[in-house]
Amino acid sequence: MRILGIETSCDETAVAVVENRTSVLADFVYSQTDHEEYGGIVPEIASRQQLRKIMPLFEACKSRYQVTPENIDGIAVTSGPGLIGSLMVGLNFAKALAYGWGIPFIGINHLEGHIFANCLADPDLQPPLICLIVSGGHTLLVEVAAWGEYYVLGATRDDAAGEAFDKVAKLLGLGYPGGHKIDKLAREGDPEFAKFPTPQFKTGAYEFSFSGLKTAVALYLKEQQEEFVQSHLDDICAAFQENVVSVLVDTTLRAAQDRGITTVAVGGGVAANSRLREVFRRRCDGAGIRSLFPDLRYCTDNAAMIASAGCFRLERGDRSELNLKAVPYWPLGG
Ligand code: KG4
Ligand code: ZN
Repeated sequence: MRILGIETSCDETAVAVVENRTSVLADFVYSQTDHEEYGGIVPEIASRQQLRKIMPLFEACKSRYQVTPENIDGIAVTSGPGLIGSLMVGLNFAKALAYGWGIPFIGINHLEGHIFANCLADPDLQPPLICLIVSGGHTLLVEVAAWGEYYVLGATRDDAAGEAFDKVAKLLGLGYPGGHKIDKLAREGDPEFAKFPTPQFKTGAYEFSFSGLKTAVALYLKEQQEEFVQSHLDDICAAFQENVVSVLVDTTLRAAQDRGITTVAVGGGVAANSRLREVFRRRCDGAGIRSLFPDLRYCTDNAAMIASAGCFRLERGDRSELNLKAVPYWPLGG
C-alpha cells in the first residue's frame, strides 16, 4: 500500500510518500525559521507559512515521485494534536485531494506518527515495546501493546523535555530552537561541572518534570559572572543535558523492566540528542534490552512517519470522513 503523508501540526511543513509502512519513496520537509526572533513559535506566523509552503512542497514531492490517484492508495494527514491554524492547512489540503481524487484519507495522531518513525528504522519492529516520546510539546512514556493499542504510562507534569532544552538555550543566549545547539556545545563540556536537582516522585510513578530544572539553571546563571558563564557554556550545557538524559533513561528502563518488555524505542525531536542516544544504547545493552531510534531526520517532525502510521490504519480499514476536524488536544489512546 502506497500512502501520501502530510504533516503541518506546528512549524514544519512536510509531504512524503511511503510504501508498505517502512519504505520511504519521497520525503520533503520545510522548517520555518521565522520564529527565532520571537524566542518561540508564533501560531499566526506558523499557519500563514504553512499556507505558503504546502503547495510548493507537494509539487516538489510530485517531481520526485509521480503522485497521482493511480499511484497512491490513500492519504494520511496529521489532524492533532498541534496548533489549530497549522493543522487546518494540512487537513484541508488532504481532504480536497482525497475528495478530488476519490481516494480514502485518514487523520493521524501526531504522537502515533512519532512512534511509527521507528518502523522506518526497523521494518520488522513488532510490539510489545515501550516508546518514549520526547519533543518540544510532549514528553510521555507509552506502552505499545500492539500497533494501535497504546497505554500512556506517564507524562511530564509541566514542561516537555524539548521545551526545557529550548528555555535553557534561551537563558544561555543560544537562540530558538536551542536543543541541537545545547547538544553540540555539551559534547565539549563536563557533565559533572554542576549538579542540578532531579525531581522525586512517589515510588513506581513514571512521571517527569522539567520546570524545576529550568529554574535551577536560571538561578545558577544569576549567581555567576557573565564572563564565567560565557567561558563555561559547554560545561553548563553538558551538566543540564546530563540531568535530562539520566531522568529520561532511568524512567524508561524502569518501566520496561517493571512491565517485562525487552524493546525500547524513542521518538520526537529530542530523540536526535547525541548524548541521549549514547546513554540509552549503553544502558539498554547492559540490561539486555533492545533500544531503537529513528534516523535523525525522522526524529523531528516529518510526513514519512505520518504516512507510515497511515499505512497501518488504512490497511486495517480505518477511514476518516470529510467532516473530520483538526483538534489541538488529542491524548494518545483516547
Ligand atoms: O518533534 P519536534 O520536531 O516537534 C514537536 O512535535 O514538538 O521536536 C522539536 C524539539 C525542540 O524542542 C528542539 O529543541 C528539540 O526537539 N531538539 C533537540 C535536538 N534536536 C531537536 N533537543 C535536544 N537535542 C537535540 N539534538
Ligand atoms: Zn512532533
